[in-house]
Amino acid sequence: MTQNLVTKPFMDVLAGTRQASPPMWMMRQAGRYLPEYRATRAEAGSFLDLCYNAKLAAEVTLQPIRRFGFDAAIIFSDILVVPHALGRSVRFEVGEGPRLDPLDSPDKVGTLNTAIDLGKLEPVFEALRIVRSELPKQTTLIGFCGAPFTVATYMVAGQGTSDQHPARLMAYQHPGAFAKIIDVLVESSIAYLLKQLEAGADVLQIFDTWAGILPPREFEKWCIEPTRRIVDGIRKVKPGTKIIGFPRGAGALLPAFVERTGVDAVSIDWTAEPAFVREKVQTKVVVQGNLDPLLLIAGGSALDQGVDDVLKNFAGGRHIFNLGHGITPDAPVAHVEQMVKRVRDFKG
Ligand code: CP3
Repeated sequence: MTQNLVTKPFMDVLAGTRQASPPMWMMRQAGRYLPEYRATRAEAGSFLDLCYNAKLAAEVTLQPIRRFGFDAAIIFSDILVVPHALGRSVRFEVGEGPRLDPLDSPDKVGTLNTAIDLGKLEPVFEALRIVRSELPKQTTLIGFCGAPFTVATYMVAGQGTSDQHPARLMAYQHPGAFAKIIDVLVESSIAYLLKQLEAGADVLQIFDTWAGILPPREFEKWCIEPTRRIVDGIRKVKPGTKIIGFPRGAGALLPAFVERTGVDAVSIDWTAEPAFVREKVQTKVVVQGNLDPLLLIAGGSALDQGVDDVLKNFAGGRHIFNLGHGITPDAPVAHVEQMVKRVRDFKG
């Protein structure tokens, strides 16, 4: 067997080696702030048409790598393709976000398909194969899914809401029905992520964008436990798979999340307290984050200071530079360039 001599800084950090200059990428790095994304998106039609067009999805995945030379590409898709492949109706309304058939009663949950149709997701796997073949050798390819709780919040409410209360309420009033949705999503996510690994993903990220709205007991039940089951299910088939968790807003519950789920890294939002994260989290796993995305709109010295703070706070240990959440469509490209240069010039 020939040895692959090209190292990937991103994978090296996950394997245990701190990098003097932290590897970097941005959540939602393929997106509307890029003129080339807007052009490809217009060519594809709707957002979901783009997700299911393997060639164009591969193209937008590669765009930010060509432009900024990030250390990781994340496959272009959405967390809501999983409910779609479970037979739910999913649409993206321009300017309004996702719309699904609400799954808001135990009766409706009774009609939920229990097995995911992975055939529907073939374009995602094909896009991964294309990206894999075109990506520079030192660049890592990230596969992903939404965490069961976050995906369930959209399935129950049928849309995003300010606090996703329909799902939380269902979990209190009809815990059996809610658990059924979570169970289906756990099994679907394991199957989906394993296929992404087969198609060429090096590492997986599980996005739990709404974890932070749960009280501690519910956080244990609906965030930690389903994530642990996914991590175990993946590693049972592919031992040693590297997995990044993103329990957004977990705050003081982060150490429990890290300990119980077995993830290799956690992505943190910009409100996380640095000393707490260094002592209780970074001693155990890689920390990914956590620039406030609004600083990419502000630019100037506010952006420089924000970047320096993130580097100073976390570059002493194992760190992947990222934002605390997705980049917004109104962030100027020049500000992203400013951030990239400042991170690349840093030698910790
Ligand atoms: O990071 C990347 O570049 C990969 C692509 C990616 C998208 N969505 C593309 C997208 C990833 C990893 C996601 C994850 C996702 N999708 C999450 C979890 C992470 C997070 O951001 O909180 C969630 C909650 C969703 C659901 C979702 N998708 C919402 C609520 C919306 C509407 C809000 C918005 O920004 O418009 C989307 C649409 C979406 N997903 C867009 C992109 C680029 C914008 C659609 C467009 O191009 O018109």
